[in-house]
Amino acid sequence: MSEKESVETSEAQIAVHWQEEEYYYPSAKFIAQANMTDETIYERFSLDNFPNCYKEYADLLEWYEYWHTILDTSDAPCWKWFVGGKVNASYNCVDRHLKDYKNKTAIHFVPELENEKTEHITYQELYVRVNEFAAILRDFAGLKKGDRVTLHMPMCAELPITMLACARLGIIHSEVFGGFSGRACADRIVDSQSRVLITMDAYYRSGKLLDHKQNADIALKLAEEDGQVVDKVLVWQRYAGKDSSPTPMVENRDYFVNDLLKDYYGARVDPVPIPAEDPLFLMYTSGTTGKPKGCQHSTGGYLAYATGTSKYILDIHPEDVYWCMADIGWITGHSYIVYGPLSLGASTIIYEGVPTYPDAGRAWRIAQDLDVNIFHTAPTAIRALRKIGPDEPAKYDYHFKHMTTVGEPIEPEVWKWYHKEVGKGEAIIVDTWWQTETGGFLCSTMPALTPMKPGSAGPALPGIHPVIYDEEGDVLEAGSGKAGNICIQNPWPGAFQTIWGDRDRFVSTYYERYNTDPNSKDWRDWPYLTGDAAVQAEDGYYRILGRIDDVINVSGHRLGTKEIESAALVCAEVAEAAVVPVNHDIKGKEPDLYIALKPGIDASDELAKKISDTVCDEIGKIAKPKGVWLVADMPKTRSGKIMRRVLASISNDKDVGDVTTLANPEIVTEIQEMMKKK
Ligand code: WT7
Repeated sequence: MSEKESVETSEAQIAVHWQEEEYYYPSAKFIAQANMTDETIYERFSLDNFPNCYKEYADLLEWYEYWHTILDTSDAPCWKWFVGGKVNASYNCVDRHLKDYKNKTAIHFVPELENEKTEHITYQELYVRVNEFAAILRDFAGLKKGDRVTLHMPMCAELPITMLACARLGIIHSEVFGGFSGRACADRIVDSQSRVLITMDAYYRSGKLLDHKQNADIALKLAEEDGQVVDKVLVWQRYAGKDSSPTPMVENRDYFVNDLLKDYYGARVDPVPIPAEDPLFLMYTSGTTGKPKGCQHSTGGYLAYATGTSKYILDIHPEDVYWCMADIGWITGHSYIVYGPLSLGASTIIYEGVPTYPDAGRAWRIAQDLDVNIFHTAPTAIRALRKIGPDEPAKYDYHFKHMTTVGEPIEPEVWKWYHKEVGKGEAIIVDTWWQTETGGFLCSTMPALTPMKPGSAGPALPGIHPVIYDEEGDVLEAGSGKAGNICIQNPWPGAFQTIWGDRDRFVSTYYERYNTDPNSKDWRDWPYLTGDAAVQAEDGYYRILGRIDDVINVSGHRLGTKEIESAALVCAEVAEAAVVPVNHDIKGKEPDLYIALKPGIDASDELAKKISDTVCDEIGKIAKPKGVWLVADMPKTRSGKIMRRVLASISNDKDVGDVTTLANPEIVTEIQEMMKKK
């Protein structure tokens, strides 16, 4: 076993020791109103009926031209869904609802400051704003179908407006999480070859108005150094008509959208019929190696899958008020704040800021005031809300019928608090397991059909057929009690199409591991490697144990350890860097950073701070190391590999085990002593 696997395996073992919990059942009231109560769905979506079963998902959309081939495998493992079909995501999320719901709220935008009014954007207003901005993209920015455009926007109504305006024209949007640095934005501009950046001047976070425009200037400078010139920056304003950023606008490059809009008043842009297989967007995700992967998602397959899973797993009806607290800068926000809910004609909430600002009751006041009935968040947020305000939910008059947890395994204890306090014992919970790459859910209970089990993601979705392999490629059966590599045997419409510009990396990362014939055109020969370890209980429920590779999940955000290490190495004084995950009761994990300095350089608190700041500048505050430990040397194997497992044990105050085989065992005690003093 390689050393990096052993780190993750020890974590996995902790998780396996969770006990199997009792089932929880949905109420009769929930079942009576649910979108999916037909048990035959599992049979209809069995492998025998694959791939034709997915016609049910495609039929949730309106098509300009209906497809002729449901699944084309000729370019395996780049699968093509709904070939021959033409569709437009903007039309399906906006225009098609005007007939019945034009006066209904599509988006509630809730500003972080409580004295500012919530903005309620109807479907009619969304239609107008998407059209006018699409006209700017086409006629002012000169963008057309197939062009990529980078968005670096915070949580605001203008973000889905921008995405839907791009989708209207077939422009491929690539939204970079607003909290990411200018450097991270630059890397994504370069990789996607964007010549237009869309951003915002400022936004509120924890009560402070942050200058966001400055990141655009940093990003453009760095992108240009790497050979990608951005010629136009479109800047939305936090307060329309007012500049809220001290960073000056650059003439003939930066434009306030609100100034441009005056010339596009009343503009209408016909949605372009897009071939189902043309990309809708890119979403970058961290991997084990430094360079983030641009996951390319399709238009037809992705939208059908986001819509279908929103309808059947999230149980969204057009009458529902739905609040997902994720950020649109992540895939959860794309699929389950924007595309899925809007495609179903629901009201979706966008909250600008921190759920605990200004106090622990804020989230529940929003739920009460907007009469939210479907709630969606991650274990990290649930743990934070539980810690600072365990009794808060009971003080507010709201009632959820349905709640989601997503992003990492949830401890049964936390699950039970979520169920009892947040859900008031009335709401069902779905624990949805999936990934940026998969476009939509892979495992979850069906809310009205399968009972819940705390700590388990549940069975696979209808039409998803997982298999757990051991290292040798043998199948680990349900109830074996053994963890292995969870793979998906069959393609599904939401799966990403490739890594932008890097098909080889796509194949080698996700499909090579258990493929036996690289020339095969049969999907049965190409299991999709999720990279997660999992165990399957006797009842068929899957428990996900975490990543096999070394990615640290901080507050539900996936950070590559290699990315953090390479950021630290930007400091000239640093010789070696090693990042290990430290358990944190709210964030899940935090990165702890060990640094060996170059010879002749003295350790100091200033230097440690400089390294920490560099990591934040390079990646974003989210990657801020818990500690920066300047050590005399790293514990190493005789072949010179850094023993991250040993460092992880030290950071987590655990027994380091047998270190006598190391090249430098004495350093272990030295580091332990040093950390005790801090
Ligand atoms: C990784 C994907 C899913 C969208 C947000 C994160 C972990 C995700 C669960 C869950 C246990 C989970 C996995 C997965 N994960 N959901 N319900 N239970 N683990 O997307 O950043 O691509 O991360 O998050 O390890 O591979 P992502």
